[in-house]
Amino acid sequence: MIDLSTFYLGKKLSTPLVASSSPLCKDISNLKKMKEAGAGAVVLHSLFEEQILLASQSLDRFLNAGADSYAEFSSYFPDRGTYDIGPHAYLFHIQAAKKAVKIPVIASLNGTVLESWVRYARAMEDAGADSIELKIYFLPASFEKSGAQTEEDYCELLAGVKAQVHIPVAVKLAPFFTSLPHFAQRLESAGAGSLVLFNRFYQPDFDLETLEAVPNLTLSTSDELRLRLHAVALLSARLKLDFAITGGVHTGADAIKAIMAGAHVVMLTSALLRHGIGRLNEIAREITDWMSAHDYSSIPEMRGAMNAANVPNPEILQRANYLKVLGSYTTKGAA
Ligand SMILES: Cc1cc2nc3c(=O)[nH]c(=O)nc-3n(C[C@H](O)[C@H](O)[C@H](O)COP(=O)(O)O)c2cc1C
Repeated sequence: MIDLSTFYLGKKLSTPLVASSSPLCKDISNLKKMKEAGAGAVVLHSLFEEQILLASQSLDRFLNAGADSYAEFSSYFPDRGTYDIGPHAYLFHIQAAKKAVKIPVIASLNGTVLESWVRYARAMEDAGADSIELKIYFLPASFEKSGAQTEEDYCELLAGVKAQVHIPVAVKLAPFFTSLPHFAQRLESAGAGSLVLFNRFYQPDFDLETLEAVPNLTLSTSDELRLRLHAVALLSARLKLDFAITGGVHTGADAIKAIMAGAHVVMLTSALLRHGIGRLNEIAREITDWMSAHDYSSIPEMRGAMNAANVPNPEILQRANYLKVLGSYTTKGAA
């Protein structure tokens, strides 16, 4: 009997497959389909502080524009100070999601200043979120700020939120840190319940006709998984917090590799956008088939079996890999 259950952020999940934060999660019927297809948990789309500001500014503009002629109409709206339409809609969505699916619902928050991170994190907890994923996105574009200061800001933000909520807090990170092990250890000390590795970056492209920078979103492929496998294989050998791999999980084999590296869960978006939510079901079956063919009966048995502490050739996770990899490339046919 194969048991796909796992633990993540203090909850037992029926499978290690988690639908990651994306527009798919804005729709309650999709959340139900995700659960039916085997998702162990869902991460809701992010609440962005910029959206909250925009929402309250346009509400203000709307009310002010019609202040005289629509005085009676505008009186139906509560004060701006007590009601922000952006976060309210999000909090209702958390409540609706909790009612609709009996799997953990993880809220996702992307703020800009500490006070609002803390305020919205508390509101998310009150609305019933099982945990919160902080998507911290300080784009390193400043010439004044050092890497050390950036890391300090992440830790302060996390500690500030952690001090105000009781539910577990995950941190979704970009891959661009100079010393990820040291930084990850600091995040663990600052109270992170899990690290979600890694955010994908959607660098803008240059349009050579209009000479403009244009947004460019492409879905991932399994090739992106290796960056995550390497990081989690190193970190999970030493750190005790949970790990989620997001980015490049498309098949049962991808998910198994992630778990072998030390992930508690794998998160999927591109695979679901490309093939539909039902892809979760197929991936769960691929995992089960592989486990049964290789005599594994549970996820904890596999978790971390190939991390830096357990893989038979750990040097491949270190610098030695570089020489080996370059030496393994054949130039036959290129000349
Ligand atoms: C259209 C789209 C919207 C997304 N929106 C969010 C979001 O609101 N918050 C977030 O943390 N990640 C967001 N993501 C990132 C995904 O959650 C995920 O981390 C990323 O796509 C890598 O996983 P994948 O390879 O399975 O796609 C979004 C991704 C896509 C493609």
